[in-house]
Amino acid sequence: MSPDPNAPRFRVRPPANWVNDPNGPFRWRDRHHLFYQYNPAAPVHADIHWGHASSSDLARWEHHPIALAPTPGGPDEAGCWSGCVVDDDGVPTAVYTGIDRDHTGLGVICLARAADPDDPALTEWKPLPSPVVSGPPAGLDVVMFRDPFVFRHGGRRWALVGAGHADGTPSVLLYDCDDLADWRFAGVLLDGNDPVAMDAFGDKAVGWECPQLLVTPGGDWVLVVSLWDGDPCTTGYLTGALEPAADGSPAFRPRVGGRLDHGRDFYAPAVLQEPDRALMWGWSWESREPGGAERAGWAGVLTAPRVVDVHADGTLRVAPAPELDLLRAPEPFVTGPGEGARLPDAYDLTVTARTVTTVRLGEGLAFRIDPAEGSLTVRRTGRPEPVTVPLPRGEEPTVRVLVDGSLYEVFAGDRAMVTERVYRDPGDAPELTVTGAEAAVVGWALVPPALN
Ligand code: FRU
Repeated sequence: MSPDPNAPRFRVRPPANWVNDPNGPFRWRDRHHLFYQYNPAAPVHADIHWGHASSSDLARWEHHPIALAPTPGGPDEAGCWSGCVVDDDGVPTAVYTGIDRDHTGLGVICLARAADPDDPALTEWKPLPSPVVSGPPAGLDVVMFRDPFVFRHGGRRWALVGAGHADGTPSVLLYDCDDLADWRFAGVLLDGNDPVAMDAFGDKAVGWECPQLLVTPGGDWVLVVSLWDGDPCTTGYLTGALEPAADGSPAFRPRVGGRLDHGRDFYAPAVLQEPDRALMWGWSWESREPGGAERAGWAGVLTAPRVVDVHADGTLRVAPAPELDLLRAPEPFVTGPGEGARLPDAYDLTVTARTVTTVRLGEGLAFRIDPAEGSLTVRRTGRPEPVTVPLPRGEEPTVRVLVDGSLYEVFAGDRAMVTERVYRDPGDAPELTVTGAEAAVVGWALVPPALN
């Protein structure tokens, strides 16, 4: 059988079956570990485990055995849902959502500790038998409660938890968890009635899932949430300041907000705070015809790592992690105008345009760069609505596209990202077409990097 041209080969995904959210990106000694929501039995969302991969260079990933599995009769017996991983006094510790058999939307917060911190692969994880938080705080009518995210502020450890309230308001709840075994509810960090959030996200979401927080090298704080309206919908960000309130707990003051990824196939990103940068991976779901994932035997993929920062005007700055350059073949498959080049199954393409330029990537996706107007418009075949995002105006903007099988990640300079899924039939030979007088095109096929 010929290989599935739609299956990504360079991004993190299990060899078969189901993946959704990235979980607990974690740097341990000299490796990055990345976990993910995983159903090992079928390409559907059920019986969720934590899959596990790690990498020494963020380009080449090694798969490890399942890290977390539901414990029969335990607090996670119906699923080990999303969470994070932290260094708890020298012991890598997963802080995750346990789902019980009643599946009410109200999770509990569970811990699992790496059995051997000296095992570079962190192969074995031991769940604690009882949750550290057994449900939402009383008195707030919380009807959705999940996805703990632990961070440090003011010398202490805190956690965010995603929530939704009975009146349809989404929120992020704050906990003091300096001692990971002893959590104290510390208030609502932010809810959907905040004017900056309302302006940025509208009022469609009834829950904010997978809250994530990061601080940039310049000291801006970024809150990322996944907007849930009964189904996963889209993602948003708010940038601003995190300051101590009168009681010492952190208070978030949003300044600017917007959509995080402008594509239709990106959700539930997870953030890794590094000393000098923040990295983010998202989940790209399938958007195939019904039954397509079952026939293919796999569903979902994690995106490439993206570096997240903030522009001086408070808007988000995003770019592919520089380590992704390691995947480029030594010689480009196209340079110059690029007309008619055959597109590989996986590639990294940059287009710098001085005048209006249209680029067609086979039959499935085309984009138009308008430098004077400062816009990038992405059109996907079969989707009538194009996606338009800003580009720096009056410059020679560069658009970068990372393609891996059916996963298309488009970066409009360092201003916006658009993640889309585009499928093709085996045997199709997509070609690159560039229309525009003054465009510089460079494309590299992706190849496994040499082992060092
Ligand atoms: C986001 C999400 C999380 C939850 C997980 C379950 O996609 O719904 O809120 O923990 O997926 O797999």
